[in-house]
Amino acid sequence: MSALLDVKGVTMRFGGLVAVNDVGFSLAKGEVLAVIGPNGAGKSTLFNVITGVYRPTAGKVSFDGADITGKPAYEVVERGIARTFQSSRLFSDLSVLDNVIIGMHTRTKTGVLDALFRPGASKREMAACVEKAEALLKAGSGDLHAQRYRPAGTLAQADRRRLEIARALASEPKLLLLDEPSVGMDEVETDALVADIKRLRSKNPDLSVILIEHDMRVVEAFPTHVMCIDYGSRIAEGNFETVRADPRVQEAYLGKAAAHA
Ligand SMILES: Nc1ncnc2c1ncn2[C@@H]1O[C@H](COP(=O)(O)OP(=O)(O)OP(=O)(O)O)[C@@H](O)[C@H]1O
Ligand SMILES: [Mg+2]
Repeated sequence: MSALLDVKGVTMRFGGLVAVNDVGFSLAKGEVLAVIGPNGAGKSTLFNVITGVYRPTAGKVSFDGADITGKPAYEVVERGIARTFQSSRLFSDLSVLDNVIIGMHTRTKTGVLDALFRPGASKREMAACVEKAEALLKAGSGDLHAQRYRPAGTLAQADRRRLEIARALASEPKLLLLDEPSVGMDEVETDALVADIKRLRSKNPDLSVILIEHDMRVVEAFPTHVMCIDYGSRIAEGNFETVRADPRVQEAYLGKAAAHA
């Protein structure tokens, strides 16, 4: 079976800095990949290349049989890749519910003209969106549904992270990219996040997930393939135990820790 996502020889330079250096990997339908690596390793940049925020300096990204290298972000979402961001990109003045509904815009059929000339169709579609958004808000841990009319900006940090995931899921992705979803969560919230992702996967066994994570408890919780990058390059790949035991991985983390000490 061909891979759902195929990243080949991706390099991303910013001036003289090589943020991602000749990285390649592929991901099958329903597979989970965890990307780890010290701060500044190039993890988020890799997501930005996959999702069309940047066109890579070199290399190719294929998804679901199509070349999506450098395609605009909206087209990437339309094709079935959704993501969350490391720092929240919610619309803080809009309600929790509206933030999820916005995530659906690539899947809705009616537009402004329909609202004017076919108001019935628009209204029906909107009602269906609300229903779907409410279901997504009920699905995860925490009680986002009870807070659905609150402005997103007033949510607690963990709820904001959960809302980002609900919004990403609203676009009905085949591949979900999570950039450090556990950031700012305490242990209990992190465990709930792991349970949420597990539940999501058992409900949608075909959904593929790439998870950038610093919290090794989260990485360990999934039967994942793990890839470690450092200074833009892939330095290790395999199951969690193999990657954790790899001397280059330990060196990458310890080296950075020593530099910060
Ligand atoms: N738009 C940009 N312009 C210039 N340099 C950038 C840009 N985006 C990222 N970088 C640089 O590329 C390198 C990789 O950054 P990136 O954000 O991908 O790291 P990361 O692995 O996600 O780190 P963290 O764990 O801290 O989130 C860093 O040196 C960063 O400063
Ligand atoms: Mg990052």
